[in-house]
Amino acid sequence: MNHNLAIHGGRPVRARPFGPTHDFGEDDVAAVGDVIRSGNVGRGPVVDRFEAAFAERHGVEWAVTVNSGTSAMHTCIGAINPDPGDEIIVTPWTSGGSIIGALLHNCVPVFADIDETYTLDPSDVEAKITPRTRAIIAVHLFGNACDMTALREVADRHGIFLVEDCCQAHLAEHQGRIVGSIGDIAGFSFGGKHLSAGMGGAVLTSNRALWERAVLFRDAALPRGNGPLEGMPYANYFLAPNYKINDILAALLLNQLGKLDGYVENKARSASNIIEGLSHAAEITPQAVRPGDRHSYWNLGFTIDTGALRCTANDFADAVSAEGVPMAGPYVGSGDVGPLYRNAFLAGPDLYGKTRFPLDYQRERPVDYRQVTCPNGEAIMGRGVSLIMQPSYTEDDVADMIQATRKVADAARDGALAPANS
Ligand SMILES: Cc1ncc(COP(=O)(O)O)c(C=O)c1O
Repeated sequence: MNHNLAIHGGRPVRARPFGPTHDFGEDDVAAVGDVIRSGNVGRGPVVDRFEAAFAERHGVEWAVTVNSGTSAMHTCIGAINPDPGDEIIVTPWTSGGSIIGALLHNCVPVFADIDETYTLDPSDVEAKITPRTRAIIAVHLFGNACDMTALREVADRHGIFLVEDCCQAHLAEHQGRIVGSIGDIAGFSFGGKHLSAGMGGAVLTSNRALWERAVLFRDAALPRGNGPLEGMPYANYFLAPNYKINDILAALLLNQLGKLDGYVENKARSASNIIEGLSHAAEITPQAVRPGDRHSYWNLGFTIDTGALRCTANDFADAVSAEGVPMAGPYVGSGDVGPLYRNAFLAGPDLYGKTRFPLDYQRERPVDYRQVTCPNGEAIMGRGVSLIMQPSYTEDDVADMIQATRKVADAARDGALAPANS
């Protein structure tokens, strides 16, 4: 049967590119221009204003800006101040940025399994807790909130910290509560996510001790004259990096913050229309959202029935992309590589220099990520595909995405993507 798939030389559903990722306009240029014209381009009052506005939008006491989501997650760990070899529980399905900071802090990531929401399964988290566990990192993958009610209970029962990774989940909600306000401390990325300045990040907390340590941690533990801990004697108090941002970046973030609610509403509307448009394709199942939660759709994730469609998730995504609708295959570190624990930085022979430190620190046997498995995660990730959601999508854009995905699904069902000898 001729399905005319673009990947086989047929005519693509869409030839036009999609619109811009964000609404960057003259208002943004003016905000940044004001800072430059002021002559004070370092860390100053605009950073303070953005931090206050970002904290207020989330109903938390404090925001601490940093230069990326990776450094935000590191600052969360730095604020908690674990000992070398302490364990941090995390999901296998996330960006390396969720745990790079934990590793730089000489902690040991421990992987717990996920469920069809693509987020941590609280019962497996509890099963992975040991006397060395210091924290859970709850990653709201693609913008879908973790089961924060259950994770909060687990964390409280065991006296450990609950850290939120909100890098992909700006303005998502769990049971009416905005993410970033539920854990003890939370990290955000502004590197191309809903709120974006192309780089940057922030930490949120209402815990004064964690806030004070986070403020110091993001700036070499050196209290500056113009910073929130003004008055402390000027000295390096503990080992910490320099992750701070300046007023130029903060001016762009502050102006974009005014557009964030609109961005998230547009993404959610497009996502719900695409889900509706694909609802008759029985082989395509959207990421499950808990009743009462609000997904904020950095990405719209699906699992496909690779048996019925007779192709891999990567092949499916490549065929949709060839139709002019960019679709990703299994996310970060999956597909050919596998979940995060199969990535070379964890599964390879070395971590620091030619050593396995801290994976062997005060342990009879070093942690060996080649032996780790999260069966549900591997099964779900192996079938995962996703569409990036942009606030600029029009009804025509959404219609093209539905048409391209349906066209490929119809063809795949008939074996158009099946290996030649199957
Ligand atoms: C879940 C998650 N955590 C952390 C990060 C790291 O953020 P950044 O790229 O800003 O360092 C990302 C980035 O994609 C992410 O998706």
